[in-house]
Amino acid sequence: MKILKTKEELQNIRKTIQSTVGFVPTMGALHDGHISLIKKAREENEIVIVSIFVNPTQFLPGEDLDAYPRRDEADKKICEMCKVDYLFMPEIPTMYTKEEVLIKAPNKSYILEGQARPGHFDGVLQIVMKLFGLVLPTNAYFGKKDAQQLSLITQMVKDFFLPINIVPCEIVRESDGLALSSRNVYLNETQRKDALLISKSLYAAATLIAKDEKNVKTIKEKIYEVMNSLDVEYVAIVDKEFNEIEKIEIGNTVILVVARFGQTRLLDNIWL
Ligand code: PAF
Repeated sequence: MKILKTKEELQNIRKTIQSTVGFVPTMGALHDGHISLIKKAREENEIVIVSIFVNPTQFLPGEDLDAYPRRDEADKKICEMCKVDYLFMPEIPTMYTKEEVLIKAPNKSYILEGQARPGHFDGVLQIVMKLFGLVLPTNAYFGKKDAQQLSLITQMVKDFFLPINIVPCEIVRESDGLALSSRNVYLNETQRKDALLISKSLYAAATLIAKDEKNVKTIKEKIYEVMNSLDVEYVAIVDKEFNEIEKIEIGNTVILVVARFGQTRLLDNIWL
């Protein structure tokens, strides 16, 4: 595995690659969720490129940019183990100049995650667009856990006519159901235990739907009931384009929940 630090190094290497390129953009602190994306990229492409860049423009003032877990050495070992070909680890000045053309996410980026973090998705789309421009991937891999991010990136690729295939990847969970996240490290023992109610609420919803309950209001009530003791930020039931719906449509519904544990926000969702 070769570690690349500058955009010139990456661009020079990229010019020599004629085969398929699978790309996994990350902010590091790699866990089994990322590993599953890298493995899928490894299976489906000749060349695999992973990036690690804690992107400042997607953090709001007061968010955890400085505290965001950074584990470069461990991450390099994981990428090596997963047979990544190139690991791109740029510094901020490599990725941003002083004043640049910006990407403005559509209005639906200001609901749900975007309501809690206004402007967050502008920063996500900006950096993903830049990374796509450098890596020129054939396939790019994103987890379904960040469902709204995945939906907006898919739309950006479509709207800008980018010849990139976005590959949505399943959520990876601990054996007790907690969705993997780099932010799980912030949880203390009690919060870690309480956080299980998030996935339990989604399983309860799935069980209701399996019994043919299609009414969104009833399903939301069930989810809130299971998470009764938590500080729930939102429960949303939307279609894949993030429009609110009233009836569950199998094949086109995402149920999303976010709860707070002190300063830590945990997201989870199921795709029906
Ligand atoms: O999902 C993430 O880790 C980040 O939002 C991404 C896509 C790497 C952009 O910084």
